[in-house]
Amino acid sequence: MKFISRRSLGWGRQQPIGRRAVLQSLGALGLTGLVPAPSKAARQTHRLIAEEGHAPLVEGEGPATAVWAFNGQVPGPVLRARQGERLRVEVENRLSEPTTVHWHGLRIPANMDGVPWLSQTPIKPGETFVYDFELKDAGTYWYHPHINSAEQVGRGLHGVLIVEEPEPLPVDREILWVLDDWRLDQTAQIAPFGAMHDMSHAGRFGNTVTVNGSIGIEEAVQPGERVRLRLVNVANARVFSMFLEDLPYWVVAYDGQPVSPHQPADGRIRLGPGMRADLVIDMQGEPDSLRRVIDDAYGRDNAYEVMRFVFGAGPSGVVERTPPEGLRPNPVARPDLARAERKQVLFEGGAMGGLSGAHMGGRFLSMRELAQAGKLWAINGTVPQDVFTAPPLFELTLGESYVIELVNETAFDHPVHLHGHIFEVLSRNGQPLDHKLLADSVLLRPRERAEIAFVADNPGAWMFHCHVLEHQESGMMATVKVA
Ligand code: C2O
Ligand code: CU
Repeated sequence: MKFISRRSLGWGRQQPIGRRAVLQSLGALGLTGLVPAPSKAARQTHRLIAEEGHAPLVEGEGPATAVWAFNGQVPGPVLRARQGERLRVEVENRLSEPTTVHWHGLRIPANMDGVPWLSQTPIKPGETFVYDFELKDAGTYWYHPHINSAEQVGRGLHGVLIVEEPEPLPVDREILWVLDDWRLDQTAQIAPFGAMHDMSHAGRFGNTVTVNGSIGIEEAVQPGERVRLRLVNVANARVFSMFLEDLPYWVVAYDGQPVSPHQPADGRIRLGPGMRADLVIDMQGEPDSLRRVIDDAYGRDNAYEVMRFVFGAGPSGVVERTPPEGLRPNPVARPDLARAERKQVLFEGGAMGGLSGAHMGGRFLSMRELAQAGKLWAINGTVPQDVFTAPPLFELTLGESYVIELVNETAFDHPVHLHGHIFEVLSRNGQPLDHKLLADSVLLRPRERAEIAFVADNPGAWMFHCHVLEHQESGMMATVKVA
């Protein structure tokens, strides 16, 4: 199946691609007219329609793919607003099943969070729901349904929300790459959902990586320009671990939250599903040269080229530049570590996890019985039968600080995500981090543990789950109540 593989590192010569990659990045930046340009208005109003459509994911090498998409686009429209503005989004459901929209990473009121039953009744086919909230934090965020998530997100329902800082980073240009992973069949159509193997193993791993909805892999750049690159992983299950060949760059934010500009120790930007990173890259290269961006998350043998920067003609771009200044932090409360209450969360189960069973609906079920009920993972020894109505995993006191140790007792990666809050990652396997890290997700590697700390300052019931969507739907999801 030629069209579903991105260029492996061995292929050498470039395959012809159209201008789609470039055009789509322009589209993604809101320059196509489909997205209102940023303005000084205090409220941004947008309309999203969840509908069926077709997307040219593998254009040039195969037919269009039938998708579910916001406004018929994959990825959905880029919403842009300024920090401090209000965002109003009317969401119309033209699918044949209920949906919701969750605003991933945003600290907004619980009734705007888009979780079915917990925040709102699901939007039925034909209905419209209006989301309206203030944008407290600047950064790179995204939106997606939170019901039947593996299928709705996996069929293409997702989009990016960019909240601009009051003073933008001084760069020449901004680029957005929405990273996705699709499981396509021979005719470039989306393979069926619900495989037990996906739930019990690493999730729905795809065979077609797209950037901004295209397998085209070129990004045209000017020699010498300084670029801000926003990366968003919207894949159901694939982890990306990317490096830039021979280009000076700094990470300036993870999950939308500023980090002191630095290059990661192993040179990799590792993004689990749902996670984001903002980079500043100096395009140091001779005219007409190229630099590759390579993902080797699953080892050297599975490494492939995600994208390549192709330098235009023009003056030579090798100019030494100083590192960028850091972004201004968002107004996130600092946890009081001395007085924080400590809690532990144990993630267990899955294939090769050695879990014998867990409690569900007040009964202890064997792993076999759980699997028959479609559940393969447990949190602190329990699997909620219906997570939206089950008692919360924790009841936290509004305004108090908490340190939670997350323990991955399984053989798989789990990007663990908390709604409504931004936490600090204090340690990994007992070791403090090199750079202070604020985030809404933390990627736990197999058998890894991490400590997170935050102030429970947003009242309501919040989802707390693994963002591998197949894990989320088979037991790795709970709620945390703040009151
Ligand atoms: Cu991307 Cu529960 O969320
Ligand atoms: Cu998981």
